[in-house]
Amino acid sequence: MRILEVGCGSGAFTTFAAKASGIKGEVYALDIQPKMLMQLKKKLSRPENRDIKNIKLVEGDVHKLPFDDNSFDLVYTVTVLQELPDKNRALKEMKRVMKPGGILAVTEFLLDPDYPLKSTTIKLGEEAGFILDKVAGNLWNYTVRFKAQKSM
Ligand SMILES: C[S@@+](CC[C@H](N)C(=O)[O-])C[C@H]1O[C@@H](n2cnc3c(N)ncnc32)[C@H](O)[C@@H]1O
Repeated sequence: MRILEVGCGSGAFTTFAAKASGIKGEVYALDIQPKMLMQLKKKLSRPENRDIKNIKLVEGDVHKLPFDDNSFDLVYTVTVLQELPDKNRALKEMKRVMKPGGILAVTEFLLDPDYPLKSTTIKLGEEAGFILDKVAGNLWNYTVRFKAQKSM
């Protein structure tokens, strides 16, 4: 799988995605803050992560992603969406870079100060043109999964 993590931070989830991405899988870990990418780089240099070779660090803004259309099978983002000034534009950018039928997974944790209800996340995704696929989790943490359908 070709995966994009939006707002990877210091990489709490990135290494898991890299291991799950398959033999030829790749994870593009994108963040707007260079210091977060530096922390992820440091994490990847630890002995337990030295075998992980399929993570590419990318400095960038989700509102203007530095990728071609139809590039990714999966885009995921954890406790990021509510921080964004233009959520609709950001979601449409994610959709642009996703392959038709690709998956967007949005995860939120109750401990995050910006925590939105599931219904809020679903509404944001649908307003950006995604099709709701699955909701998993509970009040403490949840993931809303969408599919990217593209008009020809
Ligand atoms: C609350 S942290 C979550 C980090 C990580 N996803 C995690 O769960 O540990 C939000 C992250 O989103 C990043 N971010 C905020 N605005 C962004 C933008 N416009 N484009 C890309 N990343 C952004 C921040 O720099 C920060 O690393």
